Amino acid sequence: MIYESKHPLVKHKLTLLRDVRTKPKKFRELIQEVAMLLCYEATADLQVTDRAVETPMGLAQGHELLDKIGLIPILRAGLGMVQGIWQMMPGAEVWHIGLYRDEETLKPVSYYNKLPTLPTVQVCLVLDPMLATGGSAVATIDILKNWGAERIKFVGILAAPEGVDALHQAHPDVPIHIAKIDSHLNEIGYIVPGLGDAGDRQFGTG
Ligand code: PRP
Ligand code: URA
Repeated sequence: MIYESKHPLVKHKLTLLRDVRTKPKKFRELIQEVAMLLCYEATADLQVTDRAVETPMGLAQGHELLDKIGLIPILRAGLGMVQGIWQMMPGAEVWHIGLYRDEETLKPVSYYNKLPTLPTVQVCLVLDPMLATGGSAVATIDILKNWGAERIKFVGILAAPEGVDALHQAHPDVPIHIAKIDSHLNEIGYIVPGLGDAGDRQFGTG
């Protein structure tokens, strides 16, 4: 399933993210905020159990989250999505996967993997603002499935139709939550109209 956000706040903030005049500090804040909003939508089906709680006025029937969540940011650009989501889910574990796209082949090159031997969480949220060819997301989800992860969701900000198709073909069981699916990829694999290089714009490089 592909979920493209219809939320007005996401639309508004995405426009500011795209703006070439937005500086790294503001860009980082917007990445956090959009990630938080998308994560709110992506976690709507988490399991809860009943839990009674004592209020100052008596007993209330409440709930407690059952699922343990893992956040898997794809380095570097996915890192910026962690802080916003962590504010809402401070108990989430964070496991880092480092991949970069070879500029010539556009294929992902793996350089870091910080997963424990066995999965410790029930739901994995893979975080990367950009789903371009889909190579990085597919490779990350391959790694997570080989590790034993069963419920995986991809949360991104901008996608190209090519990336959505590639991810859906490789992992049809993984829902894709995205702020917007853009028009196409250009000849060097960038999303058009996109927002440029999400890593460079966050970290002030490039
Ligand atoms: C960007 C982006 C994704 C990847 C998307 O990372 O953050 O990880 O490209 O492209 P794909 O869908 O074609 O694989 P990049 O390789 O630029 O590395 P960085 O985050 O370290 O800058
Ligand atoms: N990575 C980015 O940061 N931006 C794109 O448009 C494509 C890949």
